[in-house]
Amino acid sequence: MSTLIKNGRIITSEQDYVADMYIESETITTIGKDLKAQADKIIDASGKYVIPGGIDVHTHMDLPFGGTSSSDDFETGTVAAAHGGTTCIVDFAVQSRGTTMRNALDTWLRKSEGKSVIDYGFHMILTELPDDWLPEMDALVKHEGVTSFKLFTAYPGVFMVDDATIYKAMKRTADNGGLICMHAENGGVIDLLVKRLLSEGKTGPNGHALSRPATAEQEATHRVIALSEMAGVPVYVVHVSSHKAMEQIREARDRGLPAYGETCPQYLFLAYEDYADGSFDGAKYICSPPIRERANQEFLWKALKADDLQAVSTDHCPFCMKEGFKGLPKQKELGIGDFSKIPNGLPGVENRLHLLYEGGVVKRGWSMNRFVQLVSTAPAKLMGLYPRKGTIAVGSDADIVVWDSKRPHTISAKTHFMRVDYNPYEQMTVSGSPAYVFSRGKLIFEGDKFLGKLGDGKFVRRGQYNLI
Ligand code: URP
Ligand code: ZN
Ligand code: ZN
Repeated sequence: MSTLIKNGRIITSEQDYVADMYIESETITTIGKDLKAQADKIIDASGKYVIPGGIDVHTHMDLPFGGTSSSDDFETGTVAAAHGGTTCIVDFAVQSRGTTMRNALDTWLRKSEGKSVIDYGFHMILTELPDDWLPEMDALVKHEGVTSFKLFTAYPGVFMVDDATIYKAMKRTADNGGLICMHAENGGVIDLLVKRLLSEGKTGPNGHALSRPATAEQEATHRVIALSEMAGVPVYVVHVSSHKAMEQIREARDRGLPAYGETCPQYLFLAYEDYADGSFDGAKYICSPPIRERANQEFLWKALKADDLQAVSTDHCPFCMKEGFKGLPKQKELGIGDFSKIPNGLPGVENRLHLLYEGGVVKRGWSMNRFVQLVSTAPAKLMGLYPRKGTIAVGSDADIVVWDSKRPHTISAKTHFMRVDYNPYEQMTVSGSPAYVFSRGKLIFEGDKFLGKLGDGKFVRRGQYNLI
C-alpha cells in the first residue's frame, strides 16, 4: 500500500514548508516538491497542515481503580484517540502489591492484544520494591522496552510508596538508563484533610479539591525533584496542575537539572469554580491532582509557551456518571455522599489536539511548531520513541495527521468515540480537527469515519529517553 500526500504544509517541531510526502507500506520514504510517483491513494492536502501524529504518554485504559475500572479499554480508547489525531499512547501497567513486574506487563499486554488501533507502549507503575526485585527493573528497560517507571507520593494504601522506595527506584533507574515519572502530591496530609472534611459533613465533590491543596502538590514536587537530584536520574512530573508545582520544575531546570513536567487539558480549560457548589455534577471533574481555580490556568499556558512545562498529555482515565451506560457498572456514583469514593479521573484522549490547537495556536498565537513539539515531538523524545515517532522524516513511521484548521468540531458526549457518558468540554466548538489520520501508513480515520482495524496497533518497545 502506498500513499501520496500532495501539497501539504509539513510541520515538525522545527520546520514549516510545503511539500509532497510519499508513504510506502508503514514508513515515510520520500519528501519533496512535485513528486510524480504512482500511489495506491493520493490525497490533496493543499491548505492543510501535515503533522506527526499526536503522542499521548499518559493514558489509563482498562485500569482497575477506585472500586471499578476505567470505562475505555484498548479498543474504544484508541479509536477515540485516533479520531482526535493521536496515533500512539503510552499507558500504565500496574505492579500491584504481591505481583511481579513481569506479571503486570503480561496482564497489560493481554488487555491490549488484538484491540488497539494505534501503537502503544507501557510505563510500569511500582507499588513496592524489595531489593531482590531490582533486577526486574533492569530487565524491563533492557529487554522489554518498558523504559519508564511511575511512582506515587499519593493514594495511601493503593499506590503510595515512601521516600526510601522512591529513592531506591530512582537510583536503580539512574543505572539502567530508564526514566522516572512521578505523581507528586502529599498523600499523608491529604488523607488527614479528607477525614476532617468528611467528619465536618463536607461530603460533596468539591471536598476533593479542598482536601488536595496546591501546596500539597508543591511540597511533593519539590521533594521528588530533590530525591531525583540525589539519585542522579531525570524526573518527569506527571499531570502538573498548579503554578506552585510548575515553579518547582522551573527552578530545578534553571539549576540545570533534568526535571520535566507535563500538564493536561483539564488543568488548562476547567476550573474549580465550576463545581465549587458541591452538587454531584461536580463528580465529572474529580481527578488528582484536582482542577484548580481559574486564575491558575494562565500560569500553565505561559509555562507551556516558555518551556517551563515540556509536554501535554491527557491522563485519560474515564468513569461514567450514570450506571448502565453501554452496560457499565456504577462508577462516579460510587461517591454519592462521600467524595473520597468518587473514582478519580477524567476522559480526554480524543480531544487533546482539538483543545491545544484552539487554546494554544488560535487563542494565544503559538506557532504550529510549538503545538507539534508539545503534543508529539517532546513526548516522543522523552519517552524513547523518537525519531521513529514524533516527527516527519524519511524513515520515520507514517503516523501522520492531515490537520484542517478550517474544520470546526463541536465536542460532545453525543458524538465522541470515548466510552463514557459525558465530556468535560461539552459543546465547546474548536476551529480545527483532523481530516485524515494515518497509523503506520494505514488510513484509519477520514474525517469522522473510522477505517482502521482492531489489533492493527502494535506494542512498541521504547528506547532510552532523549533529554530535551
Ligand atoms: O485522577 C487521576 N489522575 N486518575 C488516574 C490515576 C493517576 O493518578 O494518574
Ligand atoms: Zn497520577
Ligand atoms: Zn494518570
